Parts: sequence; C-alpha cells; structure tokens
Amino acid sequence: MNPVNDISAGVDPDDLENNTSANPHIRDVIAQGMARRLFLKSGVGAMAVAGLGGLSACGGGGGGSGAPVVTPPATSLPEAPVEVRLGFTPVAKSLADQLVVADGYTATVVYATGDSIDPLVPDYTDDGNNANFARRAGDHHDGIHFFGLSAGGAPAPTAADRALLVMNHENIAGTVMFMHPAGQTTPRPEAEAIKEIQAHGVSVIELRKTAGRYGYVRNSTFNRRVTASTTMELRGPVRGSAFVRTRFSAAGTQTRGTINNCGHGHTPWGTYLAAEENWAGYFRRRNTDDVNRTPKEIAGLKRYGMGNSSGNNAWATVTPADPTSTEFSRWLAEVNTAAPADGTGDFRFVHNTFGYIVEIDPYDPASTPVKRTALGRRANEGAWNSRPKPGQPLAFYMGCDSRGEYVYKFVTAKAWNPADADRADRMTVGNEYMDSGTLFAARFNADGTGTWVKLDLSNPDVAAGVPASALNPAGYTFAGLADICVHSRLAADAAGATRMDRPEWTSVNPANGEVYITMTENPDRGATTTNSSNNIANPDVDPANPRYWRDTRLDNANIQRGNVNGHIVRIREDADNAGATTFRWDIFLFGAQARPDTGIDATNWAQNVNISGLSDMNDLSKPDGCWFSPTTGILWIETDDNTMTDRSNAMLLAAVPGTLGDGGPRAVVNRANGSPDTAVTTDKTVNTFVGRPMTEATFRRFLVAPKGAEITGLTESPDGRALFVNIQHPGENTASANIGNPAQFESHWPGNGAGIAAPYGPGGATARPRSATVVITRNDGGLIGT
Ligand code: FEO
Ligand code: CA
Ligand code: CA
Ligand code: CA
Repeated sequence: MNPVNDISAGVDPDDLENNTSANPHIRDVIAQGMARRLFLKSGVGAMAVAGLGGLSACGGGGGGSGAPVVTPPATSLPEAPVEVRLGFTPVAKSLADQLVVADGYTATVVYATGDSIDPLVPDYTDDGNNANFARRAGDHHDGIHFFGLSAGGAPAPTAADRALLVMNHENIAGTVMFMHPAGQTTPRPEAEAIKEIQAHGVSVIELRKTAGRYGYVRNSTFNRRVTASTTMELRGPVRGSAFVRTRFSAAGTQTRGTINNCGHGHTPWGTYLAAEENWAGYFRRRNTDDVNRTPKEIAGLKRYGMGNSSGNNAWATVTPADPTSTEFSRWLAEVNTAAPADGTGDFRFVHNTFGYIVEIDPYDPASTPVKRTALGRRANEGAWNSRPKPGQPLAFYMGCDSRGEYVYKFVTAKAWNPADADRADRMTVGNEYMDSGTLFAARFNADGTGTWVKLDLSNPDVAAGVPASALNPAGYTFAGLADICVHSRLAADAAGATRMDRPEWTSVNPANGEVYITMTENPDRGATTTNSSNNIANPDVDPANPRYWRDTRLDNANIQRGNVNGHIVRIREDADNAGATTFRWDIFLFGAQARPDTGIDATNWAQNVNISGLSDMNDLSKPDGCWFSPTTGILWIETDDNTMTDRSNAMLLAAVPGTLGDGGPRAVVNRANGSPDTAVTTDKTVNTFVGRPMTEATFRRFLVAPKGAEITGLTESPDGRALFVNIQHPGENTASANIGNPAQFESHWPGNGAGIAAPYGPGGATARPRSATVVITRNDGGLIGT
C-alpha cells in the first residue's frame, strides 16, 4: 500500500495557495408571505431605509423579535418587509466526533458517500470494496440545491415532499484511502483510478418525504451521476477556439468531466450550476514541458497554478487495459512534440477546458452538461444569481478561491423574461442567458464605493494587457474575448481589480438584493513574498481586507499571522441594478476568537481583531460558504476551518443579515507583530466600513461538525421546515498508513450514529468515515432557525 495522492492526509485542498419550474416568482411570493406573517406576528413596524449606499442605519438594536425590519428602496421590486429572527438556543463549540445540533432539532443522514442509487448496484459495505461509483454517491459532498418535483414528476418549485436533490462531490483528498480496501496503491491500478474519477462530479437523486421522513429513492429514473468522465459541451466565446483543441475534441467543442466542484448556483429557469474550483492540481505537467511552450502559454499556465505537478492521484500514470483509451492520458497536460502543434493530437490544452461554471438540467437525466465559458475561468466558488427582475439583466456573482484573487460577476446580455422560468427547453434558455454577456471583476475603493471593471477589449486597461514583470517576464496581451475568458485572472490583473482574501461563496439576500461574499482567510495578507502557486505578489492590508494579527493555538507552538479567521464582504449594486458598474460595500462580519489566547493583548483584540464583538456562542473561523433561506431570510454561514480547530470543529451559524451601512466607518489598527512580513515594525491603520456588531440575538451557532469535517452545501425545502446540510470529509486527518487500524481513524461518523437520529450504514463505532447529507428538522415541525 503506497499512498500516492499528492495532497497528503490532513491538508485540505481548499487551503492550498492556488489555492424552479422553475418559477422563482412563486417561490419568492411564498417566502415573502411567510416573512410577512412573521412580521405581522412580531408587531414590529417597518423602519424604512432611506436612500442607497448604506448611509442610513436600521435599528441596530437587533434583539430577537426586535431584529431590524427593512423596507427595500423604491428602486426595488415591491416587496413585503422582512423580519428575520433567530429562535433557537445556540450550541457550544465542540471537538467531539459527533454532529452537534441545537436543542429541539433532529439531524438525520439521507445520503452518504458510496450509497447505491441503483437497485442493480449492491449496498455500500464498510471495506473499500464498493465498485461503480458512477451509480453511487460520490465523495466530499459540497454545494447542494433542492429542486421541487410535482407528483407527476414535473418541476414544482413549491413542492416540499418530492424533489431532486442535486449536489457536488468536490474531492477525494484526505479520504480516498477509505475508498479502497487498503488505501491507494502504486503503480496506480486502472480500477482504483476509475473509482476515484467517478467519485468526483455531481449527484442528482430523487428525494421523497414519506410518513414525515425524507429519504432518497434508490430506483428513481431521475437518479444520475455526472462524473469526472462525463462528456460535456463547451459553449460561449471559448468554444471552438485554439485554446481548447484536444485529441478528444479536435474542434474544441467538447471535453470530458467536471472536477473539484465546490460551490454551486441555480438558475431562475430551473437548472443547476456546478463550479469547478481546484482543477489545476489534477493535471500532470512537469517543468520539462516549459521548453515546448510559448512565453504566453507559460504565463497562462503559471497564473493558474500549473507549474511543476505530478497530478493529484497520479491518474495520468495509469496504463489502461484498452491501449486506445485516453481516459488517463488526458490528465497529462504536456506537449507531445510528435503531435500536431494545434493540440489535436494530445492533451496539451486540456486544462483550458476546466475552471468553468457547468450548467446541468437535473430534470432531464439524458441532457449533456454545458461549460459556460462566457462566465470566465478561475478557481470557482459558485455562481449565485441576482434577484431576477423583468426587463433587467441577470448577474451571476463568483469568487475565485485563492489567496489574493478576485470577485467577479457576469451580466447577461439578455434581459430577464419571467416567461423563461417555465420553459421546458431549459438548456436552450441557458444558452440565451449564459453564452453572451459581460464579465466584470470587482475593485473596492477606499471610500466605500466599488467599481465593476469590465473584462473585455473595450476596457483600455485590458486592451493594454498585463505588463511584463519579474514574475511574468513576457507580460500578457489578449488576443480576444476567448483569451480573456480562458485567462480571466490575467484580465482582472490588467483591469486593476482588488486582490481579496480568498473569495469563496457568494449569496444574495432575497430581501434586498445585497450580495454577501465570504473571504475565508489569508495568512499571506501583508506578506512581501510571491504566491508561488498563482504567480502573483501578495497584497498588503487594504480597506476591503483590512486585518492581520497574531494568534496562537492550544495544541502546538505555531504562531498564526495574517488574516487568520477571515471575513464576509457585503455589496449593494447602485440603483439595485444587477447590471450596474458601481456599487457600495462594507464588511458584514469579521471572524475571530471571542477572546485571545493567553499572552495576547486583550484590549487590542477587542478593538482590532474581534471587530464584530463575537462571544463564545458565535465565534467562528474561516467562513467558507453562506446561503440565505428564501423562506426565513436567515443568513446561514458555514466554516471550513483549520486555524481555530484547537477549540472547535467546523460549524454552521445563523445570522440576521441587516443592511449595508448598518455599522459605519472604522479604523483598524494592525499591530506590527501580526504581519507575515517580519520586516514590519510599526502598526498600520486601515480605514474601512463595518457592519453593526453582532449580538447573541443576531448571530448564533446552530451546529458543529464531527471531527475532521467541514460544513459545505446548504439548501432547504420550500416550506422552510427541512434544512439540508452537507458534511464534507469527516476523518480527513487520518494518516493513510492507518487504513488498517480503525482505532486510529480520526472519525467514525456517520456509522457511529453520534448526534444523529440513527447510525447510518455499516461499521458502527469502528466505521470508515463518510461525507454525508443530513436533513435537519425541528421537533415541533417549525421553521428552521426561527
Ligand atoms: Fe472548495 Fe474553496 O472551498
Ligand atoms: Ca475545504
Ligand atoms: Ca487561537
Ligand atoms: Ca469549501
């Protein structure tokens, strides 16, 4: 047994430096109706927010039913005032191998790694012998969405008892050894590699609620796995361009597979969006390939972290039984000098077919997924759409999750037509909205305004290209829109976008359209070094990324510096128009320990680190995802942590969102000893704009994950009475050498049944850990979180 995964156990790939019918209106009406009922019940009067730009506060008092009530500005669609309130008892931090959920709630596992979605495929066994992951749940459950189904199997956005649950299976890192009897072996056997390739991608499973309990339907004809081998169409500006020609598709119109799908989105016409994140690590490309590349190609490869790599899981090294198969050689992104220079005889350009937003029609199991290249190419963290407004364009908001990368939006050329929500030709609707439009990146100005800088040749900064530098000696000049879409990071460099602290998930407040974007962390904020994996200099603190500090851990002597715990940025488009080129911003939330560790200045901590005023009931580290309940308006925030894990496993928290500008200007003093740059000897003050402080009435911890897990995807039944939460990679810190010793597994969840209604699957207290979807219901049947 020789573990060959490049990503060693315990290292989360996300932490690498590169590192309905869709008739949404029906759904919104229901949500607003529910919110209105809550509002009336509370007896709290509306408090108008005058004007745009967050100049007015809205009742910071925030306690329980006294939480703020917001009336959107007149430029918004007419909407009911929404009162958001939290009604559960917060849970304490936990280090147990257990799912901890708030009192009065029950968590039940409905779908775990290896579950069969086909009556012809045997039950999961706890021994790594399960084959055919093309008909089983993949690993590392991530972004997830609930697509309602009518009794007759048609799209039904208000249906709560029958649905298609669609979710990403991001990765296998840290847990892949559990997929095989004795872990990964070398040389890589074909059967192991096939299983691993199939464990990536997306699940579509039918879900039903019978006798009050949700479960998936194993023999549903809707059940589908999209994997890292599924044929996909490329559409948009990159289709057919010289950047994507391969031996598989000489015309550059298709590719195989989607991979490392992290965040997600869904469209107003009823399709799912899977976002390709850390795809770059899967390709084998050694330094010896550089001599066969143009300077421009090398600039593009390096900006996406494709320097010297043997490729995750060494799939490129597999020798297939069928010598004509290119299933494994396609992971070798190197030039074969004997092949044609246009790339049609090898896979030198295969990496350019990854890094996109992938649209999938869950209601049609035979449909071909489409990579929407107009939205650009990056380490995607979902694509969340603006509130659809008739006659206005739609926007899709996207983060690029690597240190110092950018926030993007794509604005559709076509204005939203509500009739499109009910069309049966969903992928054609996707062509109409997602193949033409304008890509932008965000620049956060020091005065609290922002600019969406355009990424096309009409922007003189993009037309001028990236100047030559020490890191990029050739610079980069864009040949056209296809080049810009393939190399969105370089285009945003040229356009002067703002380098952010690992922008992850985006979400849009259904009450007022404000966009929330998690900034997970950045230990390099303020470092003078180069980010070796994306070939760009690390930025200093700035107004939108204003903090670095010094932190310690209880379990080792390591000092943590930089932006250790992350923050959440909030923006509001000017005139509430998704197509606006200007916006206002503030920082909704600052992650932090409630109190500093021993030996660290508590006064400074309270003033300049724990800026949101977090307590033991809501302190958090590394917000990774965020998602608004359309029914209750609660903002759910989940973490993927490795910096406060001496105090707690990853967690899910519920927040009352508030409104941009509900805090105000704030000067943050960064102490010199928090800078990753050891040459810094003086404090640095950064002026920024913050949200109102959190209280235990407006922000509470709801759930804590089992050991080694992160919390990922969130979705809800349309009645707001079932919250689906994905628990990703419990046990990922298990050393692969311990595969034969269950006593050394970091986690045995969910087989151990800890914190859930019943143990899930075989294995009991010594089970191999599994990623899983849990459904959380309130014991009195009420709305989740209220
Ligand atoms: Fe897959 Fe960046 O979280
Ligand atoms: Ca992660
Ligand atoms: Ca600490
Ligand atoms: Ca994540």
